[in-house]
Amino acid sequence: MKSQLTFAAVPSLATELLVVLAADSSASKDKNAPAQPVLLSKDATIASADKPALTSGEFNAGVCETLLLHAPPELKAKRLLILGVGNAAKVSLTEVRKAAGAAVRFAKPRGIRELTLVLPEHEGLDMAAAARAAVEGAFVGDFDPDTYRSDRKDRSIQTFTVVAPASVDRAAVEAASREGVILGESQNFARALVNEPGNRLTPTALGLRAEEMCHEHHLECEVHGTDKLKELKMGAFWSVAQGSDEPPALVIMRYEPPKTENKNASKDGPVLALVGKGITFDSGGISIKPSENMEKMKYDMAGAAAMIGAMRAIALLEPNVRVLGIVCSAENMPSGKSYKPGDISVAMSGKTIEVINTDAEGRLVLADGLHYAKQLGATYLIDAATLTGACVVALGALNGGVFSNDEDTYEHFRQATAISGEKFWRMPVDDEYREMIVSDIGDIKNTGGRAGGAITAAMFLKEFAGDTPWIHLDIAGVAWMDEQKPWIAKGPSGVAVRSIVEWVRSYAG
Ligand code: BES
Ligand code: MN
Ligand code: ZN
Repeated sequence: MKSQLTFAAVPSLATELLVVLAADSSASKDKNAPAQPVLLSKDATIASADKPALTSGEFNAGVCETLLLHAPPELKAKRLLILGVGNAAKVSLTEVRKAAGAAVRFAKPRGIRELTLVLPEHEGLDMAAAARAAVEGAFVGDFDPDTYRSDRKDRSIQTFTVVAPASVDRAAVEAASREGVILGESQNFARALVNEPGNRLTPTALGLRAEEMCHEHHLECEVHGTDKLKELKMGAFWSVAQGSDEPPALVIMRYEPPKTENKNASKDGPVLALVGKGITFDSGGISIKPSENMEKMKYDMAGAAAMIGAMRAIALLEPNVRVLGIVCSAENMPSGKSYKPGDISVAMSGKTIEVINTDAEGRLVLADGLHYAKQLGATYLIDAATLTGACVVALGALNGGVFSNDEDTYEHFRQATAISGEKFWRMPVDDEYREMIVSDIGDIKNTGGRAGGAITAAMFLKEFAGDTPWIHLDIAGVAWMDEQKPWIAKGPSGVAVRSIVEWVRSYAG
């Protein structure tokens, strides 16, 4: 998809589909009171073309509600789509992002390959931010996961145009929509990786994909296999990898800001490390999972994909801060070589881990990834992982879990999500939980029982983050969507990419 921006007068736009947003301005709490749809555009031609439809009572401007007019009078556009965004008092960037996605997903099945969205003019809505959100949403909406269907029809959108009023700060809107392209494409890049089946995307293949991306966007990249894990004494990571015929991959991606005098880019500036769980298939290993839904465990590398996607965006956005991306990728399989419940693993940090359940493998690979990141000079850590079913039970498919050992670092992340629009809910990592993962024969054990399962998994990681400020994102419930939404296909969501990028940018000097 190509995205472009125009400041031309709306009636003059020759487009297959002109999309204008409408909100419900009825402040009434009475559920039976009629909706009052209002257009979020000041263009008089659209207003008059829409008038009969808006006053008909057929359209309530509910979230993602649509009304289509063919050959709208006085407009060059072939079709006019009115798209609802719900309550006028609650219109935010999230609604704009969703509406753009919904517009794209309205067009696709109808064979419409080109559309134009009128940026909403609404009190409190920043035009530049709205342009960025619209572009992000359009890219997200354009993605479909049916890669391997032999009768697949390419219905992807060729051109998505955003129209902004001529009076806006053009440079700001242009810059923001360029950012929207980078973020939307990077999120889709991550989604495409997550969508790949386990037989296609082995750890080695994932390493290659990361390498290709780095090469294309001028990031330094190293990909290592078994020998390096052994050389670095990554005993926890290797425990998981050892049961599979597929070798593991340890990926290290490096972003250096463009050379400046700035202290941030110098030796003593911050170094942010992005560490991703890259289990390309999680069978559970010897503690094997039930077969029902096991096919979904190809998405157990969504944390790694988020980090690779985020590194792509960072390479293009060029924030003034150093960033390291680390991916710990393996396949978790049962075999005669597999690690077993009761085994002791020695992590790279020297800590001994009693393996209680081989299905709690994500924390093992991340333990060594986090330790290695610190050894490479990281001063701030963030990890993303489809870590626990317990997090899905706690938060469902709406919020990811966020955990942190440092208030200021968490605050940076919270503000990042305010920009990205992604939902995360903070969960505790109080020291008192630590006793739940103390081992009788070693330092710690890899599960803490059913109670507080997402928290004890985070406590395990916290052990390896140590005193370094750290954020942990458990995306088990949000990385894969079981249901489609008007603005997004079902399948891989790409959640966390935008928040991680925004978190990184918050440290740029
Ligand atoms: N990859 C799973 C977690 C998961 C579950 C991701 C559902 C996505 C959807 C993880 O490796 C796992 O198996 N965790 C176990 C831990 C338990 C054995 C302590 C779990 O959550 O059941
Ligand atoms: Mn598992
Ligand atoms: Zn897993």
